Amino acid sequence: MAPPGRRKSYLTVLFPFLLLLLLSSSAHAASAVLGIDLGTEYFKAAIAKPGSPIDIVLSKDSKRREAATLAFKPIRGQTNDKDVFPERLYGGDAVALSARFPTDVYPNLKTLLGVEASSAAVKAYSARYPGLDIEKISRSGDAGTVGFKSHSFGKRNEVFMVEELLAMELKNIRSNAEAMVAKGTHVTDVVITYPAFYTAEEKRAIELAADLAGLRVLGLISDGLAVGLNYATHRTFESVSDGGKPEHHLVYDMGAGSTTATVLKFQSRTIKGPTKRNQTFQEVIVLGTGYDTTLGGDSMNDVIVEDIVSRFLESPGAQRLNLKEDQLRKHGKSMARIWKESERMRQLLSANAASSATFEGLYDDEITFKYSLTREQFEDLTASHAARVASPLAVALESAELTLDDVDSVILHGGAVRTPFVQKQLEKAAGGAGKLKANVNADEAAVMGAGFKAASLSSAFRVKDIRDTDIAGSTFTLKWSSDEKERSQKLFTPSSQVGAEKQVPLKAIEDIKLSFTQTALSKELPILDVEATNLTKSVVTLKDKHGCGSANISTVFAIRLSSLDGLPEVVSGLVSCEANNSKSGSVMDNVKGLFGFGSKTDEDQKVLEDDAGSDDGSTKVTPLPVSDSTSSGSTVSEASSTKAGSSPPSSSSTAKSAKSTPSVVSIPLALKSTVVGLNAPPTQALSKSRQRLTQFDTSDRNAILRAEALNTLEAFTYRARDYLEDESFIQASSASTRKALEKQLAAISDWLYGDGADAKAQDFKDRLKQLHSLVDPVLKRQDEALKRPDAIKALEDGLENMSGMIKMVEGNIKNALEQAASSASTTVSSVASSATASSTTPAGDGDDLEDDPYSTSSAAEAAETKEAPAIKPYEYTKEDLSSLTTKYDTVKAWLAEKTKLQDKLGLTEDPAILVSELETRRQEVQKAVSDVIMKAVKFQDIPRKPKGNKKGKTKTKKSKSSGESVSQTGSSSSSASGASSTGTSKSVRDEL
Ligand SMILES: *[C@@H]1O[C@H](CO)[C@@H](O)[C@H](O)[C@H]1NC(C)=O
Ligand SMILES: *[C@@H]1O[C@H](CO)[C@@H](O)[C@H](O)[C@H]1NC(C)=O
Repeated sequence: MAPPGRRKSYLTVLFPFLLLLLLSSSAHAASAVLGIDLGTEYFKAAIAKPGSPIDIVLSKDSKRREAATLAFKPIRGQTNDKDVFPERLYGGDAVALSARFPTDVYPNLKTLLGVEASSAAVKAYSARYPGLDIEKISRSGDAGTVGFKSHSFGKRNEVFMVEELLAMELKNIRSNAEAMVAKGTHVTDVVITYPAFYTAEEKRAIELAADLAGLRVLGLISDGLAVGLNYATHRTFESVSDGGKPEHHLVYDMGAGSTTATVLKFQSRTIKGPTKRNQTFQEVIVLGTGYDTTLGGDSMNDVIVEDIVSRFLESPGAQRLNLKEDQLRKHGKSMARIWKESERMRQLLSANAASSATFEGLYDDEITFKYSLTREQFEDLTASHAARVASPLAVALESAELTLDDVDSVILHGGAVRTPFVQKQLEKAAGGAGKLKANVNADEAAVMGAGFKAASLSSAFRVKDIRDTDIAGSTFTLKWSSDEKERSQKLFTPSSQVGAEKQVPLKAIEDIKLSFTQTALSKELPILDVEATNLTKSVVTLKDKHGCGSANISTVFAIRLSSLDGLPEVVSGLVSCEANNSKSGSVMDNVKGLFGFGSKTDEDQKVLEDDAGSDDGSTKVTPLPVSDSTSSGSTVSEASSTKAGSSPPSSSSTAKSAKSTPSVVSIPLALKSTVVGLNAPPTQALSKSRQRLTQFDTSDRNAILRAEALNTLEAFTYRARDYLEDESFIQASSASTRKALEKQLAAISDWLYGDGADAKAQDFKDRLKQLHSLVDPVLKRQDEALKRPDAIKALEDGLENMSGMIKMVEGNIKNALEQAASSASTTVSSVASSATASSTTPAGDGDDLEDDPYSTSSAAEAAETKEAPAIKPYEYTKEDLSSLTTKYDTVKAWLAEKTKLQDKLGLTEDPAILVSELETRRQEVQKAVSDVIMKAVKFQDIPRKPKGNKKGKTKTKKSKSSGESVSQTGSSSSSASGASSTGTSKSVRDEL
């Protein structure tokens, strides 16, 4: 209905209190979109599908969340076949393997996304999971992200990038989602959450993983904003357009890996729509964030792990072994068990005052180690954690320039907020428990918000109009060189709004490279290069074709933080000048440019602007009432369309510029963007990754097919064994066949437990075929023997019917002849036609017969004469008779011969007649009979046609009675033929 780019602005909220999902008419028929809450310890997904509310995606074992763990498990057959890949396990199944296969169980990968191999995160991870083989994956220069060397590939050296492993997990989520939609519905579009502090590297790692998984990222959304969006889906806020007051809420989210606090503003706003009607929408705006990148459940687990390790080393068992800390820490299995127990105990301590664990055979089979921890002890151990709880909240408020009093509530999210000491600290920080808000499904708020966002970004859905605005979260700086000097400008600060476009004029008349950096954790990292590749050429065009002077030429770039991932992007570049060299015009333009540069960046812009005037910077600010709605779609089209026309719509400046009648010539610039930094996609490695992912999937599919083939074979061997005991099978088989079968079965079961363990699906199928080749002929004989008597009886019945029919036809012909002889003198016409009939019967055409008022018939006559004296019933011919008798004789002879042969055969021999042959003959016989009957019926039909519609009523009556008369003929004259003749008369009626 509405053009896609402007979808949102056309949307009116019809049911503001309902979360409505309607399939828009223009949408692709079947599609569903996903929101994914990409947690450190758990993944959650929500699906939006046509016609139903957003719903949580259930894991294969019907859980509402899935442990963020993947495991490889070597399978048999892998050693001989390079196309066979290890089995992959996900979620709880993978976690269950962690203590047994510590080398190939990959938990909590999120902490490694987009980080450098040398980073603290990698060190912490490898200390936590010593069983895993972390390798550096070289990217650009010396930098490298991390990957894992799998131990499930035997001698093959297979290293997986973190993104690749994450891609497998995302694919698994996708297949869980696909299990919830109708077959053929695509689930490819996703919105994925990220922590507010994520850098470009980390966001791109998510994007890369999604891409490898074959998912299309509609957008990334920060955790806090996702929770806020979900909060807004079932609420309406006061309208600031009507002087209402916005609400402020703080989302405090403590998960396994990190903690973030987000201050959000909620309000509604009414604007004049494109039509006369006002439209109202809700707004969710991020005002500030604070975070602690390592505070969370994982770091609390670490504290317990440390305690277990030190107490275990002091235990008598470990002392006896003289076990060193180093040895223990490098022991993958032991550490994995300790880690798993720590997690479990921490969860228990949230609800209980104490918890304990017994480790049997820890490090050494002989050792049993008992450990217990009270909540009090745990809180002592985590005292330093407690001290960190309040900080993100305070920082978020500070960056939002608000105080706690301004905040209506603190919305709690994440698994670790349930920890009692965290609650206590939060109550303290929030000035009492009153402000803390925890819902029953608190942990699902972010994923539901992401699902909502996905639905609102997808063209397939219409949802409540909620516009969300995030902030940059960190500083982005633009660097370029001009006049041989390196220049740089902070373009976006942490509180800059995502999606808002900035017009950035640069003093440049030659091809130029714009470099963007992100400042994160006090490091400045290059993230993007954008080259204007035909600026030089465009300037030449301006000068040559339009007489522009260098001083009069201005270059402006439109730059914003992409609403896709909050990273900078250059939307467009434009070089322009005043064609007529009018001095006054260009002054006006400069003034105009100053007005246009929008709110807070005026200062910056002036510095950059220098002498270079800008022409149409004013376009952006006027039309948008929301400072910057996320509906970047409309922002773009707004800005770029006006720019293309180069007619500034701003009211004040329009008046002025109209006066100066400037003819501004603008040329758009060609732009080339290059992602730089750690996560610039490693092109070569990528194709290999994709290939390997496909191979994995193929191997999975083959494994399923193999399992199916094995099952079928096994099931059939059991059945075959039963046959060997079965009386009727024994009767129908020779001793030698049974012996061969027995041998085969023994061989197969030996093989299954020997070489067959590595066999492929085809091998199982081949064996199955061999078994079938022995068993099937016997079963077939059994089946034939069982069904043969009935089939013979049916054919015999058919022949009997036919013989009745033959007698009837014979009688009919005889009657006709007699009648013809006796009434030869009565009518001239009858003689004539009788002659015709006897001489030309082979042709026997309707034409001849139709005009013929012939007046004899045996049975039919009585019925017919009263009602329709004009129509004479059909006369059977000698041909009719002979076709019947011929068929009858042939079939009868065939049956006699075959039965004789069959009677000589034993049960173990293949039959001389097949049931199917008997059935074919029976049908032939029946067809011959009904053909002859149909002739009579058709003959009755013929006269009706030329009589037209005058006699509509009588026609029906007549033909009905004719149908009945045929069946009467059949039943009265022939003994049986019940089935066939009723069938015929019925079908005649149906035709009417
Ligand atoms: C639209 O909004 C304006 C200003 O808020 C108000 O005066 C006007 O009555 C509204 N019109 C309709 C149709 O609601
Ligand atoms: C530069 O590239 C843009 C975009 O491709 C194009 O529209 C423009 O005409 C080009 N300029 C010149 C002078 O060719």
